[in-house]
Amino acid sequence: MAEVPSLTLKSPSHIAMPALGFGSGTRSDSQEISDAVVCAIKLGYRHFDTASVYGTEAAIGAGLAQAMDAGLVTRPQLFVTSKLHSDMHDDVLGAVKTSLSNLKLDYLDLYLIHAPLKIRRTNYASFPAEEDFLPLDLRGTWQGMEECLQQGLARAIGVSNFSVKKLQDLMEHAKVIPAVNQVELHPVWQQRKLRDFCSSMGIQVVAWSPLGGLGKPWGSRSVLDNPVVQELASKYQKTPAQIILRWITTLGLGAIVKSYNPDRLAQNLQSFDFSLSEQDLAKIESIAPQERLAKWKELCNSTTSPYKSPHELWDGEL
Ligand code: A2P
Repeated sequence: MAEVPSLTLKSPSHIAMPALGFGSGTRSDSQEISDAVVCAIKLGYRHFDTASVYGTEAAIGAGLAQAMDAGLVTRPQLFVTSKLHSDMHDDVLGAVKTSLSNLKLDYLDLYLIHAPLKIRRTNYASFPAEEDFLPLDLRGTWQGMEECLQQGLARAIGVSNFSVKKLQDLMEHAKVIPAVNQVELHPVWQQRKLRDFCSSMGIQVVAWSPLGGLGKPWGSRSVLDNPVVQELASKYQKTPAQIILRWITTLGLGAIVKSYNPDRLAQNLQSFDFSLSEQDLAKIESIAPQERLAKWKELCNSTTSPYKSPHELWDGEL
């Protein structure tokens, strides 16, 4: 069974988080997800990432329960993350309790604000409509997150999709520094400014869609097919995915990769058994950025959205 190295979350106290996590940001057949969770645990995964809006919490919870019932793993050996949906900022405690009930767990290891966006509560089949965006009281939301911590409903709290500017705004009033900022990060969007800022503040950066999000509306082959990544894959006799994951974890970052496929789950775990040379790490760092995230374009394409463009959402840090 493969061993995944741990990162240490600094806030609120030192908590170990496996650097590579099982991602579940794509709805799928519940049984397929639960089976993939059990398979992942057998392979060595201990870190599981979900979110209220993904609709995968119950299936992840069923897989975790099955693995625990079978004696494969105990709850303290697991690291489970979920996220506050953008329509639940007014009731953070209610939202975390619903997530826990879906997951059939007593506590989360990490609870994140999913995005710096607030939308009206409704049944979204797709992206929110014009009139669904509301002003976000980040201070109030973060107080709710801090309450989750105090009540023992989460061991650590953090954010997702936050720019440096938004982290600074949040920290002005925060009693607890966010443990994590989970953001899109991969060789064609490397988030250097954010990485430097988070590192100076003791905030752990975790990459979502590190492989480019294939199968998702914003997915692109430009990440796995990048010529530098391909060249290094041949040089090291590794797959492009393994090169990317090794780059991310060598930087001291976490990565959440979605795969329900046993071979790819195993392949991604085998990204810790080699090292990239300094020169090759620098080669990856020199890959030219490309603007991505069609999803953010849609969220910003609204007269009532507080952000009129992805650049505004990211405070010019794209
Ligand atoms: P699958 O679930 O069929 O394995 P990301 O985590 O960047 O959003 O990427 C998720 C996508 O990448 C999924 O479609 C997943 O497909 C695919 N994927 C996961 N691991 C690998 C890998 N090692 N090589 C190629 N594609 C992968």
